Amino acid sequence: FKQKSHQLWRDKSKKNQQRKPSKHIPWVDVEDDEPKTNLKRHGAMVNGDNPNRRKKPRHSYTNSSARESVQNDAPNQAGPSSPTSIQEQRKQLPIAQGREALVEEIRANDVTVLLGETGSGKTTQIPQYIFESGIAGTGVIAITQPRRVAATSLATRVALEQESPLGKLVGYSVRFDEKYNHDTRIKYMTDGMIVRELLADPNLSKYSVVIVDEAHERTLRTDLLLANLKKILKTRNGPVAPGAKGKNQSNPLKVVVMSATLDAEKFSAFFSGAKILYIQGRQHPVKIYHSAENQIDYVDSAMRTFFQIHIDRPLGDVLIFLPGQEDIESLQASIEHFAKRLPEGVPEVLTCAMYAAQDQRKNSQVFSAAPPNTRKCILATNIAETSITIPGVKYVIDTGKCKEKQFLARAAGGGLDTLLTRDITQSSAMQRCGRAGREGAGFCFRLYTDKSFKDMEVSAQPEIVRCSLASSILQLRCLDLHLEELDLMDAPDIDSIQSSLKTLWLLGAIDNTGKLTQAGREMAAFPLEPQYACAVVASKNYGCTSEVLDIVAVISASSKLYIDVAEQRESAAEVRRKFRHPTGDHMTTLNVVRAYREVTADKNVVSGPGTGNKEKSAKKEWCRKHFLNEQALSEANDIRKQLETVCERNNINHTLSTTSRTSQKDDDSKGYAEDEAILRSFGHGLAENSAFLQPDGSYKQTMGPSAVKIHPSSTMCEKKVPAIIYDELVYTNSIYARGVSYIPKGFFSSFAAFQQRKA
Ligand code: CDP
Ligand code: MG
Repeated sequence: FKQKSHQLWRDKSKKNQQRKPSKHIPWVDVEDDEPKTNLKRHGAMVNGDNPNRRKKPRHSYTNSSARESVQNDAPNQAGPSSPTSIQEQRKQLPIAQGREALVEEIRANDVTVLLGETGSGKTTQIPQYIFESGIAGTGVIAITQPRRVAATSLATRVALEQESPLGKLVGYSVRFDEKYNHDTRIKYMTDGMIVRELLADPNLSKYSVVIVDEAHERTLRTDLLLANLKKILKTRNGPVAPGAKGKNQSNPLKVVVMSATLDAEKFSAFFSGAKILYIQGRQHPVKIYHSAENQIDYVDSAMRTFFQIHIDRPLGDVLIFLPGQEDIESLQASIEHFAKRLPEGVPEVLTCAMYAAQDQRKNSQVFSAAPPNTRKCILATNIAETSITIPGVKYVIDTGKCKEKQFLARAAGGGLDTLLTRDITQSSAMQRCGRAGREGAGFCFRLYTDKSFKDMEVSAQPEIVRCSLASSILQLRCLDLHLEELDLMDAPDIDSIQSSLKTLWLLGAIDNTGKLTQAGREMAAFPLEPQYACAVVASKNYGCTSEVLDIVAVISASSKLYIDVAEQRESAAEVRRKFRHPTGDHMTTLNVVRAYREVTADKNVVSGPGTGNKEKSAKKEWCRKHFLNEQALSEANDIRKQLETVCERNNINHTLSTTSRTSQKDDDSKGYAEDEAILRSFGHGLAENSAFLQPDGSYKQTMGPSAVKIHPSSTMCEKKVPAIIYDELVYTNSIYARGVSYIPKGFFSSFAAFQQRKA
């Protein structure tokens, strides 16, 4: 490692040290360009005990006493489960000093914008302060998060702090998973879930306080929520002067907008000049190293950098930022492999990962301290940027990459969402860097050059201008709202609205005049992408709802069904061959689900006490043998149950299955064979995701201009059929379709005709 990495690092901070000592501290770049307007104008530092402090740069307080107090605050020192130690930890958070001032401001204002560095205690403490001070009255306090992992893990933490089992006083609600009851007063939820609740309760009347957290991320759902909250404030609080309390209202609403970056002005302006409060955090200097060259193979470079740190530098945990699960798994495997071969005397390595699709129990491992003489190496996606504070981190390795949803409204003709690995923004880079300096001076290794950093975009575009709006437009139509009429912080592109309307029209969710159809209303009820909601609704007419639910549930699970290990690819393909269905990946998935369901402990054992556990381990073993991801299958099973409930509410018979219908008189299938009935259902949903075979053997999108190849992981990879449907496109050196199935070519004639007429 040493030899290869010798030239990798250039100590940028040393150069800068003479010129400007604070240069290597994160955020300083931003502040230098952009003075602390918030603080100057409002002067509302809620936890700054010394008024002179406000005039100084925020990072000038890294004196030894501050450092000491932070080190005392290092979590888990007194054991994480002891209630007193947790109460102590609460009191030592930077936010605790400003508690009274915060509570008073929130009490006095309808809308408050709250700014504070990651780890200062906003997400875990503000809801508790509001609850404990009685501001929320008898209503529920909602705290929204862009990511489900953050929502569940923060709820778990706060339940612990409240010494109440999760799901009672403190609960959560995320897609396909919820834990709360009628006593729940503090509810962590994804922004998507609260937007969905608007459908049933447009005034969010059961919430007395809505805290919009991580607002700087500007997800589509957060933007929609903010627009709706502005409307609800008028209805519930009446037209009062900005900043004044909603007097004489029976059920007023309070809104708190929280962010970890310095973009508060915009939120404040959006809410007619809402008050901005600032929480001073604790940030120690972080020395930044840029690599001399951009590291193309960032996974390999991250590994070399990790071992360089591990061998050369004092103990302290390492946090590595990677774009996604695949890179995390591959790097984790390599680090574990080499860690076993370290020379004697070098500390042990403990790896753990944090990403959206990972098992919740495993995610929580990142919070526990490493055993003695061990360095913890945490591999995370941008979830660890601001949503989750991981204690003990001294070194950050930043690959400079993230995955971002991007809607290609024009490029592909039809418009589609893709998940692209791309360069992060300067704002993300600084957040990542800051994670190393929470408990003491830290180090950040960037796998890109100083110049690349300067070339990065300053901050990310709001999702609303780069994502498919189909699902949101559909939900809004159910509320008789039009996206174009909402008071949004940033208006979406007209092309993007048009393309999403076209999608909804092709799905039959809206009619020629743009009016919501009955089928559209049914689709909106499902917590699914409109494409799959459409497939479920369409399956009614083919008598195969049960099968379609099975497949959709697997597609909607957060982790992938197939385990893909490079060395074992062939043997995996061999044992999984029996699931292959000639029509492609959707039916193959169904075969897997069916086989999994049939695995029992032992066919001869009559069920009785103890058989449940045996069945569980038999299923686990079966998955291992077939290189299948148990977690995905069991999650899919839970998702299916949720979807069944939605079906029941909408009078869709989810028990209708192609296997049962042969014996039934009233056959809904229109005479189609099982596979054809199922594929036709998916065909309705995936009409835009379809391609026709060309004379030269390639495929071309039916509703877009692009040539499409079939992904090597697909069971259809080697086959040529006249027409295909697919779940998604992946962009690498070519455009690949993933999740591919055969579809009768004639099926699309009606769609194609529409298309021509439109053109
Ligand atoms: O929202 P903000 O970034 O300001 O901070 P927070 O998420 O409220 O975190 C406050 C503290 O709680 C941090 O020191 C975290 O390390 C700690 N925490 C924890 O120990 N375990 C969790 N599951 C969540 C937070
Ligand atoms: Mg937070």
